[in-house]
Amino acid sequence: MSEPAVCPIHFDLLDPEQRRNPYPVLAQAREHEPVFFSETDGFWVVTRYDDVMRVLKDHETFSARDALRSSPVELPMEVENVLAEGWPEMPLIIDTDPPLHTRIRGLITRAFTPRRVAETEPWNTSIASELIDGFAVDGSCDLVERFAWPLPLRVMGRLLGLPTEDLGRLHTWSSDWLALHQRGSTLEQQLAWARSTVSLQAYFVDALEQREREGGDDLIAALLTAARELEPPLPLEALLGVPFDLLIAGHVTVTRAIGNAILLLLREPEAPALVGNDDLLAGAIEEILRLESPAQGLFRTTNREVDLGGATIPAGARVMVHYGSANRDDRVFEQAHRFDPRRPNASRHAAFGKGIHFCIGAPLARLELKVALPLLLERLPRLRLAGADAFAYEPIFFARGLSRLQVEWDA
Ligand code: HEM
Repeated sequence: MSEPAVCPIHFDLLDPEQRRNPYPVLAQAREHEPVFFSETDGFWVVTRYDDVMRVLKDHETFSARDALRSSPVELPMEVENVLAEGWPEMPLIIDTDPPLHTRIRGLITRAFTPRRVAETEPWNTSIASELIDGFAVDGSCDLVERFAWPLPLRVMGRLLGLPTEDLGRLHTWSSDWLALHQRGSTLEQQLAWARSTVSLQAYFVDALEQREREGGDDLIAALLTAARELEPPLPLEALLGVPFDLLIAGHVTVTRAIGNAILLLLREPEAPALVGNDDLLAGAIEEILRLESPAQGLFRTTNREVDLGGATIPAGARVMVHYGSANRDDRVFEQAHRFDPRRPNASRHAAFGKGIHFCIGAPLARLELKVALPLLLERLPRLRLAGADAFAYEPIFFARGLSRLQVEWDA
């Protein structure tokens, strides 16, 4: 087993400069130390496309347990005690390995069918139009607050059959749950976030019980029907994790994709040509996901010692699989830093992962972007940034998204 090399690469994604632009340090890593150990974080980072693919496809060596936990330290006992009041054993599909993963994934694919996704298109469009109606005459707004958050949240809410008036608190609880998994917070914050986690779990237990009693035609009811057919049945906790996961994975990511897309398109002279040109729009969506991947990197834990990218990673080590870096690897994508909606191999990007954990919501995410982007470009003429300080990145370690995007247009 080799000792982790002292890292010459200054990798710190909570550093404000690297939040703004993480790409130079990742390019340096791909070139000089493609798999490196981050002393600050206590995990290895995999930066080249081929190595990222190898990790994602070898789920026997690289376990998905704690796929979202970026903090090197365990949660304090006080926080664990709060979580124990809820459903601490609730597995999330993203964190599980086969055979449990195979069972949960099978359940979701039975209920969350391509037809169900396709059926969202008309109301996806009407929700997006209605949101734009709410600010189009104003001539300026924060697009993250007024559009990028509410659109995917309302789409997921409607799919899951959740009342619109509940969406605000569901959004807060989801954000708190995500925040609980990264370093750099106080005990007080962690306790509050743990309470939000328990509230979110309790909310979905109620929703499942209500569908059990009254039936329904939404995704939660469909999940319950699919679960009844499973042999042996899934425990309640495993079922509970599914709407929990779908709500969170299904909205925060698309929010980030919309914000990143608009910021990127504002700098692209070709952006107006996307309206009415479905092929170009589809290519642009892949490029946006490739260049500004909303999930920059998630985690794996090694089940054995393994050689990768010139490094020897010990058993039991934490590994960050850097999709965002893989997507800018010039070995695979020619002039990878360039936005090219006609790039022939853009869809090889890793923004939705690969292998058994490949994003289940990818078709819905693409559909939401396909609906949202032309509508925004069409309805907000001469869309532009409002001032020098118009946008800011969220302080979420493994994600790339905007907390604010102040824009203006000719109203
Ligand atoms: C642009 C938007 C999205 C991005 C960038 C994204 C990204 C990802 C990535 C990278 C993974 C793989 C995680 C891993 O390798 O550990 C993943 C998995 C997953 N995504 Fe997405 N996602 C998006 C939208 C959605 C939507 C809309 C939904 C639900 C409706 C969703 C549900 C899921 C689920 C359930 C998994 C776990 C799959 C498994 O573990 O088998 N995602 N997503």
